[in-house]
This record gives sequence, C-alpha cells and structure tokens, in this order.
Amino acid sequence: MSSTHVVPRAPGHLPLLGHSVAFLRDPLRFLSSLPAHGDLVRVRLGPFETVVVCDPELTHQVLLDDRTFDKGGPTFERARGFSGSGLGTCPHSQHRRKRRMSQPAFHRARLPDHARVMTAQVTAATTTWQDGQALDIGAHLRGLTRTILLETMFSTSLPTAVTAQLDEDLTALLAGWYRRMFVPRWALDLPTPGRRRFQRAVRRLRDTCAALAADRQAGTADHHDLLTTLITAQDGDESGSRRRLTDTEIIDQLVDFMIGGTETISAALTWALYLLAIHPAVQQRLHAEADSVLAGRPATFDDVPNLRLTGQIFKETLRLHPSGWMITRAVSTETTLGGHTLPAGTNLVYSPYLVQRASEQYPHPDRFDPDRWAPQAPTPPPHSFIPFAAGARKCIGDAFALTEAAIILSTIAARWQVSLVPGQDVRPVAGMTLHPTTGMRLRVVRRRPEPHNGAIRP
Ligand code: HEM
Repeated sequence: MSSTHVVPRAPGHLPLLGHSVAFLRDPLRFLSSLPAHGDLVRVRLGPFETVVVCDPELTHQVLLDDRTFDKGGPTFERARGFSGSGLGTCPHSQHRRKRRMSQPAFHRARLPDHARVMTAQVTAATTTWQDGQALDIGAHLRGLTRTILLETMFSTSLPTAVTAQLDEDLTALLAGWYRRMFVPRWALDLPTPGRRRFQRAVRRLRDTCAALAADRQAGTADHHDLLTTLITAQDGDESGSRRRLTDTEIIDQLVDFMIGGTETISAALTWALYLLAIHPAVQQRLHAEADSVLAGRPATFDDVPNLRLTGQIFKETLRLHPSGWMITRAVSTETTLGGHTLPAGTNLVYSPYLVQRASEQYPHPDRFDPDRWAPQAPTPPPHSFIPFAAGARKCIGDAFALTEAAIILSTIAARWQVSLVPGQDVRPVAGMTLHPTTGMRLRVVRRRPEPHNGAIRP
C-alpha cells in the first residue's frame, strides 16, 4: 500500500518557505494548479505540511467521516486561542452535544420569524439609499447581515458605536487569523503591532459576547433565541452526566456564530450583487421576477419558493465564489484515502472552490450561468456542490442563509438597479473568506418610487 510520502508534492517548493510564496501571491491560482498533480497533493504552507484533497469524491469521503477527519489543521489550530470549543471549531468528541444544543434556534419552524426580521431589516437598510449613490456594498451588507444575526439569534440591537467596533474587530480577527496560519508557533506571540491588533480584537469580541450572555442571564425576558437556548440547554456530556455549557463555552459558541453568521453571508451577497452588476441581462430577468412576484413590495418568507431565479442566482454565486473556499482538517487516527495511507496528525485541506470549479463537474466552470440550476437543466453530479460542506459538520445556518439571501436580493431587485462604479479593478480576495476587493463600490439607481409610508405590505 502507498503512504503519504508518495502523495506527490506540488512543484515550486522552496527551502524553508515551502509553497507559501506561490500561495500568498495568488492563492486561487495556486490551488487551481494542484489537481493537475494528483487527487491528493502535498504542499507546505507556512509551518504546516498539508495534503490538499483535489478530487470531489475524496472530498466527500473526508466530509462524511468527521471522526477520522476531525477539526484541526492550520485553520482550526489557529482558532483554538479564541474559539477553541465553539460549534464550528470544537473537535468531534464535543460536537454532537454542542450541535444538539444549538439546533433548536435553526429549526425550520423558526424560519418564518427569522424571515420577518430579514424583511424588516433589508427594508430599513435600503430606505437610506439615495438614487444614484455609490455604495461600499460589502461594508453595507456586513452591517445588514450583522444586524439580522443579532436580532434573530440574540434578540438584541447594539448601539451604533458598539456595532461599529464589532465590525472592526471581526475584520481584524479574520485578517489576523488568516495571517497566523502562515506563522510558526514560536512567532505567534512576538510583540508585533499586528499581533496586538489581533489580540485586542479577540478580547473585545469576547467581551461583547460575554456582555450579551451576562445581560440575558440577569434578565427576566423570555426570548426563544439561540442565546437562551445555549444558556439553558442541558445535555449529557461525554461522561454521561447532564450539565449546562460553561460561561467560556457559551462565549466560544457566540464568537463562532458572530463569525459564521455574518462574514460568510455578507461576502456571498456582495459577490451576488457584483455579478448582477456585470451581467445586466441576468439582472433584467431578476427585475422581471421581482416585479411579477413582489410588485414593488419587500419579499417575505412566503415569497421565497416563488423567487426561483433569485435562488438560482445565489446558488450560482456560491458555486463560483464559496465564502469558505479552503478549509482544513486533521487526521485523528491512521486511515487511507484515495489509496494513500495517512498517519494520525496529517493535516488536510478541502476546498469547495476546487470541487465547484472542476471542469468535469460543470461545463465552462468559470462562467456565471444561473440557468445551470434551472429545473429543466441537467442535474450536476452528486457531491459537486458543497458551499455549506456536508456530513455532520455541515453549516447549521444553510437554510437561514438561503432564506436571507433570497429576501435581501429580491427586495433590492424590486426597487433598485445596481451597476459597477467604473474604474475599479475588482478581484477575488482569498482570506478567511473569499470576497471581492474590499471597498468595491456599486451604484444604486431607483427603479420605482419609494412608497409614501415605507410600509411593508404582507
Ligand atoms: C452563504 C452563507 C454561508 C456559507 C457559505 C457557510 C459555509 C459554511 C461551511 C463551509 C461550514 C463548514 C465548515 C467546515 O467544514 O469546517 C459552515 C459551518 C458552520 N456555519 Fe456556515 N455558512 C454560511 C452561513 C452561516 C450562517 C448564516 C450561520 C449562522 C447564523 C452559520 C453558522 C455556521 C456554524 C455555527 C458552523 C459550524 C457547524 C458545525 O460544525 O456543526 N453559517 N458554514
């Protein structure tokens, strides 16, 4: 049987630096070059020797066996310091219990309530838009999705100064988290300005989460949201005894939801509006759908099944630009994958970006074509669409995110046309999430007058 030393090494390996230079210069190009060298390819990124899984079926195997391919590797090793036991970062041994505790807040029956918040918040956000205004659309959508998350999951709206700080801290945390994946462990604690910025952001974010939890614990109001669920849930732990989450565990969870519930969805929505701006014919069809389903009013939960093209556009956006483009795992016990033996401790990377752009899976994979997802179109091969991952660690917020995207995109389309402000060189920025150039501006032009009372008709 073959072993990891015959997993081929990607070309361009440099002494000491490994593949970091090629990777950091253009991560997506580097990643896309790997399948030519094998189904599994060895790379060295910063201090981490890592095996990249290039084949969709092997990726599926990794995702389905979350005990053997556990959370770990560069992404999660470097997250342990700020969210070691959050739902998204915790190891398999803690996961089922934590997932059960969070699940009620994401039950399908809760979606109509969440959708009411989404409708109200996108309506409020877009009523501040001026006809012809050039918007930093990424920042705008980050604010909108953060407001929706706070209200749906934590029944709260924080003061403007706190939310501005929260946005800044989340941005600094994500940037620092990504950078730290390329830094050896001994260098993590060097007193650099970057490290201080990162640690300040982590401290403030955890303090904000701690304050949210403490307020709820001290209050008497009866909220049926994620925060209450996490504070009150009792469950059997690994030893079989029943216990609640500790304060630290609750904060870890909240940090994970703050990151997972805003940065992913806002990046994807920013891509969707950008793709509409540069594909005016698709935008026109979206306007036609919004006109026929919504007739100028904001979208609600009941509209979502009728917003077919909107759903196809978002799905195609997630195929081309999955927010989680590169995610890691660590092998917990020796195993085989694709005919190779992988010893315990092997770091792995799986990539929705690679799987969803594989040409055998999708004709003209780099083309934005929402009609791939039309009901009459051929069904893409199984396991070829994984923007939310798969298996037990699949995104807990997938249905929430799809509802949020449909409501936000169609409500915007009902009233506004978007175009790219000329002179911008928009590129994918592959950091912790995959998003378009920071600060990208879209011009918003009113399609129809605001209703006088701004009311939401049912
Ligand atoms: C377009 C939007 C979103 C995308 C593309 C996305 C993507 C993902 C992916 C790929 C994973 C698996 C990560 C892994 O394999 O390690 C994940 C997990 C997770 N996501 Fe999302 N996500 C989105 C929206 C959301 C939202 C709205 C929430 C919360 C409100 C959320 C919360 C989480 C959590 C808590 C996990 C960890 C689940 C577990 O391990 O049991 N995500 N997401």
